Amino acid sequence: MDIKLQIALDDIDLESALEVVKQIEDVVDIIEIGTPFMMLYGMKAVETFKTNFPQKLVLCDAKIMDAGKLESKLTFDYGADIVTVLGVTDDLTIIDVVKEAHANNKQVMVDMICVENLKERIETIEELGVDIIAVHTGVDQQASGRTPLDDLKEMKKYAKKSQVAVAGGLNQNNIKDYLEYNPDIVIVGGGILGSENPVLAAKTINKILKGE
Ligand code: 5RP
Ligand code: MG
Repeated sequence: MDIKLQIALDDIDLESALEVVKQIEDVVDIIEIGTPFMMLYGMKAVETFKTNFPQKLVLCDAKIMDAGKLESKLTFDYGADIVTVLGVTDDLTIIDVVKEAHANNKQVMVDMICVENLKERIETIEELGVDIIAVHTGVDQQASGRTPLDDLKEMKKYAKKSQVAVAGGLNQNNIKDYLEYNPDIVIVGGGILGSENPVLAAKTINKILKGE
């Protein structure tokens, strides 16, 4: 099965983001409206990317922690295909996000950032009917030298029916280490947008994903 590439648009302005995505459209499967990008531009960013790239999946990294129905509905109303909810939050919030998503033919990605007992939480979260579970080492955790590799190994042991995504510091130099564990989706932000040549970085990652 093909591994999907999700580009995380985090620390970038709207115009530059549109320009970059236009150039790498062919190699990207999911366009992530990253959390800081969403904070800056709101749902306009979701709407703009869905309008410009209607054939792509647009994910809104809202990292929902509460008010699951209301907040997920907002993102779907503006064109998001996938929304994120935090794995550390209450099951009731995740249940509401799943209900709202599936009523609208949309998908839910659970971000497991800061979840301590992965095994137990994965089992519960899968029972709630989510579509994708993501292991994620956050930007601040990355600064202390952590990576999501061990979490991915754990996730692949315990996730039985959801797609598995991995995020946190992935780039063209380390992505092969992650591919060994067969994630369904690799999420790359700084590894593309922070590189000297973002277009080349995205294309290189795509080649690695295709085993070329
Ligand atoms: C941070 C995020 C980022 O989008 C995610 O970590 C991917 O970015 P990077 O590849 O730069 O780590 O959600 O909370
Ligand atoms: Mg993100």
